[in-house]
Amino acid sequence: MPNVIVIGTQWGDEGKGKVVDALTHHVEAVVRFQGGNNAGHTLVVNGEKLVLHLLPSGALHPGCVCVIGNGVVVDPRILLEELGALVGRGRTLSTEELVISPHAHVIMPYHLALDRLREAALGEHRIGTTCRGIGPCYEDKVARRGITVAHLLDPDALTARLGAVLHWKNREIVEWYGGEAFDLDALRSSYLALGERLAPYVRDATAVLYRVQRRGGSILFEGAQGTFLDIDHGTYPHVTSSNTVAGAACAGSGVGPTSIQEVVGIAKAYTTRVGSGVFPSEIEGPLADTLQIRGAELGATTGRPRRCGWFDAALVRHAARLNGITRIALTKLDVLSGLEQIPICAGYEGIDDDDFPTSLSDAVPRYENIGGWSGDITACRTLDALPGPCRAYIDRIQELIGVPIELISVGPDREATIRAGDLFAPGG
Ligand code: IMP
Repeated sequence: MPNVIVIGTQWGDEGKGKVVDALTHHVEAVVRFQGGNNAGHTLVVNGEKLVLHLLPSGALHPGCVCVIGNGVVVDPRILLEELGALVGRGRTLSTEELVISPHAHVIMPYHLALDRLREAALGEHRIGTTCRGIGPCYEDKVARRGITVAHLLDPDALTARLGAVLHWKNREIVEWYGGEAFDLDALRSSYLALGERLAPYVRDATAVLYRVQRRGGSILFEGAQGTFLDIDHGTYPHVTSSNTVAGAACAGSGVGPTSIQEVVGIAKAYTTRVGSGVFPSEIEGPLADTLQIRGAELGATTGRPRRCGWFDAALVRHAARLNGITRIALTKLDVLSGLEQIPICAGYEGIDDDDFPTSLSDAVPRYENIGGWSGDITACRTLDALPGPCRAYIDRIQELIGVPIELISVGPDREATIRAGDLFAPGG
């Protein structure tokens, strides 16, 4: 199997966890390379639901090396909680199975406080962040005042870093927002203690990935969020604070671009978005509620209801170019069963299909109506088993985005999947 990046083509929550899980059987390592516990990858195994926020989805597969790359922001308390929850299910990750880059930045309690206080202060102009401290942590990374995992393992370094930064953080928290100050000694000792618990897993992640490749193993790079939440290419300012596009996999893990052979884009059969921001194909009214209920469209991290809309082919076509997508996995197709007509946004009025609008706020969708289908499709395992109009819907999407659809998810269970291409060959 080649080295493959899996990326969301919309605004996150495309169902990446299930596709990553399907591919994990064939790889030796799964790497998270950006984001933090703002992500929530839901896996359903034997009917049981498991949501991972920080651990790579490979965590369920014994022997798979799970790497938290340098591009990730790590909340150590959440990571340890997740490891503990897995132990509760009888799965203990060894120090061979989990590797944390020493260069990953740490989400500190003042990042969480600032995320919440700033969002509250923004009122109706808020971003709608997950309030997990992601933005404030990346901000400190770029400003070169962050705390890395390596600093948690070095008492002198942590003391020096916190001493330099906490005074300013407290000033902002207390004087600007009326929040509560953090105590340096308390933070220092609690984060050194967390560092001690993480220490066994911390080592040069780039060397681990190099060795996997040298012995012929393959790597899966697991993207979080989605293309249009990318800090550069997304619907700024309603975006996350990292690069979510495929290109970030290299910088966020320390693997060169020539090592990547495939980029799989995950696209939901309709569109959803959590938080604020433009959404051209958003549905208003009862149909949106129907999709939200049928698709259980509640944020895996925050539990917030997701806004729902029709499939936006212009968006996914653009995502295909931004990420260099080689194959598409189409998810949650079963949710659309029972609709009389299904509109697809084929493009935007007045915009050439090779272009993309500078701002989506003025984009007016150009809809095409495809006839719907009735009946349950969750038991279908081949394209031929799908109702004709359902196949027509898939074919039209494929034509509009210009990339082959090679995996189709027709239900939450691992088995509820139609595999159409060699990368997803049955038996995985
Ligand atoms: P942040 O990443 O918490 O700063 O949130 C910034 C924006 O990204 C908000 O609109 C969030 O709802 C959105 N966001 C962050 N992570 C995810 C995700 O995993 N899925 C969907 N939306 C997300």
